[in-house]
Amino acid sequence: MGARSDEYAYMPSPLKEPYLSRRRRVGFDLYRLHQVAREDVAGRKRVMLRNFEFFDAPVGLFFTMDRDLLLGSWLDCGMFMQNVMILARAHGLETCPQQAWCEYGALLHSELSIPDDEIILSGMALGIADEHAPENSLTTERQAPQEFTTFRGT
Ligand SMILES: Cc1cc2nc3c(=O)[nH]c(=O)nc-3n(C[C@H](O)[C@H](O)[C@H](O)COP(=O)(O)O)c2cc1C
Repeated sequence: MGARSDEYAYMPSPLKEPYLSRRRRVGFDLYRLHQVAREDVAGRKRVMLRNFEFFDAPVGLFFTMDRDLLLGSWLDCGMFMQNVMILARAHGLETCPQQAWCEYGALLHSELSIPDDEIILSGMALGIADEHAPENSLTTERQAPQEFTTFRGT
């Protein structure tokens, strides 16, 4: 796969609570669906490597942005990506945004001839969902809106 070279720091390290527990929970739930035990390092790696096959999707997308742009443009690009995801659904397709690719930034820059003044924000698998694929039956927990929202006024 080549040496890991993070394109950017996706999460703070160390990750504080409650985010750490939530992230672990999603990971464990995903491995459980793949019938991979927590201590099965090779099995966990196998699940993770599915990212780099775009989960068998026929189309893989990469989103890049001028490296000089700042946080406002990251918001813009996140919304742009979401629009692509919503539009895909309107055409009967599904997507999976994949930050995992950005752990191999140098390799992507060289293999895909992405100029160094462009930062790779995310990959994305695009295709028809396989409803039998274990990862597609993962249901993550949700906080109720009143737990993260402050309502003001009457
Ligand atoms: C910015 C971003 C990056 C993501 N990167 C990955 C990834 O590398 N691999 C992956 O399997 N899913 C990735 N996901 C998808 C999430 O794991 C999750 O499936 C998706 O956000 C749907 O969440 P939900 O099931 O809680 O609705 C990413 C999602 C987002 C928004």
